[in-house]
Amino acid sequence: MQDSKSQPYFLSVPHPHQYQIHRCNGRKALVPLLLLFTVLTTSALYALNIPLLGIAWRTDDLGITRLRVPSSTRNPAYLIKASRGAVASENELCSGIGVDTLKAGGNAVDAAVSTTLCIGVVNMFSSGIGGGGFMTVRIPPSSSGGTSQVYTIDFRETAPGRANKTMYVGDPLSALFGGLSVGVPGELRGLEEAHKRWGKLPWHRLVQPSVELAQGWRVPTELARRMRFEMFSELMLNNPDWKAIFAPNGPLLQEGEIIRRTNLSNTLSKIALEGADAFYKGPIADAIIAKIQATGGVMTHEDLEGYRVKVSRALEGTYRDRKVYTTHAPTSGPVLLHMLNLMEHFEEFEEEGRTSLAVHRLTEAMKFGFAARTKVCDPKFDSKAQSRIAELSTKEFADLIFPNVTDDTTHPPDYYHPIFDAPTDHGTSHSSILDGDGMAVAITSTVNLVFGSQVMDPITGVLLNDEMDDFSTPGVPNAFGLYPSPYNYPEPFKRPLSSTTPTIVEDESGEFLLAIGGSGGSRIFGAVFQTMLNLNWGLDVSAAIEYGRLHDQLYPSRVEIDDVYPQEIIEGLKLRGHNVTIADVNRVAAVVQAVYKSGNTIYAASDSRKNGIAAGY
Ligand SMILES: *[C@@H]1O[C@H](CO)[C@@H](O)[C@H](O)[C@H]1NC(C)=O
Ligand SMILES: *[C@@H]1O[C@H](CO)[C@@H](O)[C@H](O)[C@H]1NC(C)=O
Ligand SMILES: *[C@@H]1O[C@H](CO)[C@@H](O)[C@H](O)[C@H]1NC(C)=O
Ligand SMILES: *[C@@H]1O[C@H](CO)[C@@H](O)[C@H](O)[C@H]1NC(C)=O
Repeated sequence: MQDSKSQPYFLSVPHPHQYQIHRCNGRKALVPLLLLFTVLTTSALYALNIPLLGIAWRTDDLGITRLRVPSSTRNPAYLIKASRGAVASENELCSGIGVDTLKAGGNAVDAAVSTTLCIGVVNMFSSGIGGGGFMTVRIPPSSSGGTSQVYTIDFRETAPGRANKTMYVGDPLSALFGGLSVGVPGELRGLEEAHKRWGKLPWHRLVQPSVELAQGWRVPTELARRMRFEMFSELMLNNPDWKAIFAPNGPLLQEGEIIRRTNLSNTLSKIALEGADAFYKGPIADAIIAKIQATGGVMTHEDLEGYRVKVSRALEGTYRDRKVYTTHAPTSGPVLLHMLNLMEHFEEFEEEGRTSLAVHRLTEAMKFGFAARTKVCDPKFDSKAQSRIAELSTKEFADLIFPNVTDDTTHPPDYYHPIFDAPTDHGTSHSSILDGDGMAVAITSTVNLVFGSQVMDPITGVLLNDEMDDFSTPGVPNAFGLYPSPYNYPEPFKRPLSSTTPTIVEDESGEFLLAIGGSGGSRIFGAVFQTMLNLNWGLDVSAAIEYGRLHDQLYPSRVEIDDVYPQEIIEGLKLRGHNVTIADVNRVAAVVQAVYKSGNTIYAASDSRKNGIAAGY
């Protein structure tokens, strides 16, 4: 949400601090000078479009125009420029499949369906038809001067009918792995609902690319990395269901080798022909329920058949002159709005830029955000929840909290009044999509932890989520003495708290500006928040995503800062009493995907932290 006053990025010299990498190595004076030189030279070259070291707009065979941009992580980052539509997902193949859908006459919803199914095939550690999620969909005005309508679809997993509050008390690990950790999957019902309401192309056309992909593709870098994690070696090499796919010839498949999910391809092929019903009842459902029960779960056929999505108008807020649409509880959409509402009190925030005071203020907003998040749960299951949660995203609530944001110092966790502990989710995927008519989708889907419950049904090839872990378990305070939230105990058919925030922003005249969201557990809403502020500070959408981030979730009581953050800002935070931990920007943390529109030009970018590449045309 760059404001209309700031220049389009490619005409402007990037802010001098934009790509500075300060490490505490005593060569501080030289590094900024060198970087300033590089930034000035490369900006001049960008402006003249002179190719140097591959840094220039390039258009490939598929008509995708992209610019390699400086990234602070080990993977290359690209900014995509497009005029018709764009898709930013965490995998290049899937962004491409989304753009193919647009080119074939599909709209943003069609592209979201095909891209999301693709991620479920190739990045099965993040999401898939055995998981669930949330999406925000912008339907553009039907005539010029009209207003858009923005909806959310909640396709979060639900607790099975036989769930109860104490189901994990004796065995906390059973909330993480195995059949008992599986929530009733919602992904296909969510995609089906969006497609029925707003899709243009036939359903089978959207599923078919994933049917073909699942028959065999090359192991991508991110999958190869996760397959090699020590914690999964037993699973990959000794569990027959997993070994058959990930180590079919004995040793683990290597990056670039062909991997096949033939049974999943058959499952998807049935779903292409018969729709989501083929998953929720009949032979596919039989196989899934049998596998869940055989691995300790309590889910039944009735649970699966009875699954329903929730469609509502999006949760609305404003940030300065822009309109922000996001998802309702149990997501962290209300928390994102609260943090933006707090920042709005600082009138010169955008003009003053990234000073250490500004970064201190945004960190304080995050700490209040985390405190607010402890009040969020599935509102259906607590009589007082509706009003408690409805309050969080209001300007009045921010007005009440704002006087406690202090410029001179931070405070210990109690000051922010968190009331309970809130659990987190990790193996998640976000895609942002915009089409030529201004229809936009922000969709975040997940199987919770990396590789979900680690239960894969061999017959259908479906990998099942462990979303039940996003509920709290009574009785056990966390390592910091904070008690779990009774608002968020498991109950039959309840949906667990989520950190996701698929969000769409419009400018002051109601035009589409931004579709954004992310993955990375409790870091999601803070990462989305910081990327939005970076855009306000004039960074292009790729630079805004690539910029180092910080994270403070009250417990543990420290702020974790990416090692690429400017040193003088880190010092400024220390002076204000923050306990600072420096973290490697290349670790697996939050990952953001966004599509941004400025005038008639569309820009899209996927986070290089997960090797994502967007596409557009
Ligand atoms: C709660 O669920 C667990 C797991 O299925 C079961 O073992 C336990 O008996 C249930 N408790 C009650 C009170 O129903
Ligand atoms: C603001 O801080 C004061 C002093 O710590 C505290 O009494 C008050 O409850 C706080 N207000 C809010 C809304 O948190
Ligand atoms: C910093 O850490 C110390 C020691 O753990 C703790 O007492 C203090 O409250 C922390 N400060 C903040 C601002 O969280
Ligand atoms: C695919 O399903 C068949 C049963 O339909 C099963 O025998 C086979 O082992 C499965 N393949 C894999 C790779 O799990």
